[in-house]
Amino acid sequence: MTTNVASSPTTAADKPRGVVHWSLGQDGIAVLRLGSTDETVVTFTRDRLLSLDAALQQIGAEPRLRGVVLAGPGPGMFCAGADIGLIQDITDCKDGEAAAVQGRSIFQRCRSLAVPVVAAIEGPCLGGGCELALFADVRVLSDHPATQIGLPEVKLGILPGFGGTFTLARLVGLPKALDLVLNGKLLRGKQAAKAGLVDRVVPASKLLAAAKEEIERLAQKGRKHVRRKLRGMAYWLSCTPLRALAVRKARQALQQGQARFYPAPQKALQCLVNAFTLPAERAFAAEAKALGDLIVTPVSKGLVHLFFLTERSKRLGKQDGALDVQRALVVGGGVMGAGIAGQFAEKGLRTRLCDVDLAPLVRAKARLQQELDKRQRRGQLQAHEVQAVQDRLAIGTEAGHLGSTDLWLEAVVEDLGVKQKLMQAAVARGLRDDAILATNTSSLSVTAMQRSVPHPERVVGIHFFNPPEKMPLVEVIRGEDTTAAAVATACRLALRLGKFPVVVQDAPGFLVNRCLAPYVNEAARLLLEGTSPEAIDRAMLDFGMPMGPCRLLDEIGFDVATKVSAVMHAAFPQRMVPCELFAAMTTAKALGQKTGGGIYGADGTGDGPGRAVLASLRAQRATPGREAGRGELLQRLVYPLVDEAFRCLDEGLVASEDDLDLGLVMGIGFPPFTGGITWFARREGLANITAALDALARTVGPRFQPSDGLRRRALAR
Ligand SMILES: NC(=O)c1ccc[n+]([C@@H]2O[C@H](COP(=O)([O-])OP(=O)(O)OC[C@H]3O[C@@H](n4cnc5c(N)ncnc54)[C@H](O)[C@@H]3O)[C@@H](O)[C@H]2O)c1
Repeated sequence: MTTNVASSPTTAADKPRGVVHWSLGQDGIAVLRLGSTDETVVTFTRDRLLSLDAALQQIGAEPRLRGVVLAGPGPGMFCAGADIGLIQDITDCKDGEAAAVQGRSIFQRCRSLAVPVVAAIEGPCLGGGCELALFADVRVLSDHPATQIGLPEVKLGILPGFGGTFTLARLVGLPKALDLVLNGKLLRGKQAAKAGLVDRVVPASKLLAAAKEEIERLAQKGRKHVRRKLRGMAYWLSCTPLRALAVRKARQALQQGQARFYPAPQKALQCLVNAFTLPAERAFAAEAKALGDLIVTPVSKGLVHLFFLTERSKRLGKQDGALDVQRALVVGGGVMGAGIAGQFAEKGLRTRLCDVDLAPLVRAKARLQQELDKRQRRGQLQAHEVQAVQDRLAIGTEAGHLGSTDLWLEAVVEDLGVKQKLMQAAVARGLRDDAILATNTSSLSVTAMQRSVPHPERVVGIHFFNPPEKMPLVEVIRGEDTTAAAVATACRLALRLGKFPVVVQDAPGFLVNRCLAPYVNEAARLLLEGTSPEAIDRAMLDFGMPMGPCRLLDEIGFDVATKVSAVMHAAFPQRMVPCELFAAMTTAKALGQKTGGGIYGADGTGDGPGRAVLASLRAQRATPGREAGRGELLQRLVYPLVDEAFRCLDEGLVASEDDLDLGLVMGIGFPPFTGGITWFARREGLANITAALDALARTVGPRFQPSDGLRRRALAR
């Protein structure tokens, strides 16, 4: 017997999408699939939840029923969680609470069925998908590479609201549940079994059979459930007064750093504790209420907005003409080239790294090995995979013939002439006309580079940030002649590396360095006026930035800051006059972390050698020193960043406000909980920002004069 829950055609190949389907076999086992076979992504929309509800009721009424298998629609997919559009649309906390109550009541039907329910999980089993699985009596996981299980809701500013906090905490104990939920961790096969989140991991081909085996095993014993008990530390830290230790530790972690800006983990913590202190129904009710409260917060709306932007960014690599790069040559094995080449090799590209010197190449291999060792220690890679990555990265001082190279990328010294010559040499060495010629320049003109080679249309900027292993943004720079296909290929490559591409026009500083320039420049001016580096950095950390601007300058290096500020000054002579601190620190060789310290010591704390430079510059000033207050710091550092971002949009550097939001969150760590810089600006009030900048232009200097675009927007609202 086959039953579709929707009133639509019933042949196997033609099942309606967006609803669940089930069939009852001769063995009395119902297999309930969460979607139709042609659905590559399954989420819990309202329709799918209602169809699940109806299906579970119908299945429960089957007289021959001996067990139920919950499965995804087909290979590589279980359920990716609740439909995020639904989360976005809820603006009343009561609606959020009601949705949670409804979702959980549907999932609870699995518990009230008299027969065993086994979740057969393959592919993503996230959020609501994982919560459904947690209501099953047994969980069997496939070893399919796409399989991942977890509750990442806090990343959207909410918590698992369909009963997940209670069921998870009871299953794995409080310490493990805290780790999983508060960090939104996703686990793969063995990790999930070790955590106690799933009962068995089996080969993909045996998943359904293994799930049925579990039903037979329970049936033979005449039981619905597996008997489970928390043991050892999981028991002591969950069910005894020692619980207070685990709670205190988690609470402390949530009050530090950036965690303090996110309310969801705090509420999730309480819900996880409730699993051991309240009866189930009261704990479920508290969880639903907490979800309702969180789902309407600006933090959640901002994080959901960013989620959609990352999804949109992923589509950039799917546009027409986007080639799948297989073989790459990276020229320049320094800080950037070594990191980029390592990333290429890790993601499966056959890569050759060239440098004029052997020493950086040897260092590049060692750096990659260090990175791979770390991942092997964490269980993310096996020894043979580590070896395969190293094998994919060849090094040499000669580029050789380039006929089979799909992508040539340079990361050598920041010198236009050198870069142009290297591009010409690549063409002379047989680089195909359709191969991509890319530059990692952070300040030079891509257009000027493309004018020096035949087929300029394939020249594109692929601007990685330092360190390339960690930084999630890639600016894809379109020169005047760059084709859409070359841009799409660069975007596809960035996505393959797990990064988010933002397409930017070829202009000084591109997007990120352009916006960063007034920010770090102003921080340096505040330092000279007498504000302490600690006060400046603390103000920006309290605003939500991952690092203060003085620490950032130490990381970038004052030599680089001097070079970049000269480029920005040439482009914007009125607004971007470099602060004299940059040149003075460079002259004194107090460059930052690379030279044993700058403003701070080499490890980023305490006084660095640059304090003496600062003191001497301060002493030369005619005006007495003064400490700027918190409000002034925010206005002088963040408001010009807002103005600069809108200038970039108005000058056509990026196509939309969405690009500004994603680019600056991923590129400079603008606080994600704001939803991005334009969302922050709107909440702060564009008129307020404009008025504050006008006042600063009068009292501090004309560089604060807001742009016409900002004024226009402020008036329009
Ligand atoms: N360092 C950063 O934070 C950062 C961030 C983004 C972009 N960039 C850009 O990346 C590029 C490289 O910067 P970096 O910091 O890695 O520099 P680096 O000085 O660390 O490395 C440059 C490497 O290029 C090699 N090299 C120089 N001329 C060469 C040639 N003709 N052929 C082959 N190799 C040559 C050098 O030996 C050196 O190993 C620059 O364009 C820079 O603007 C740097």
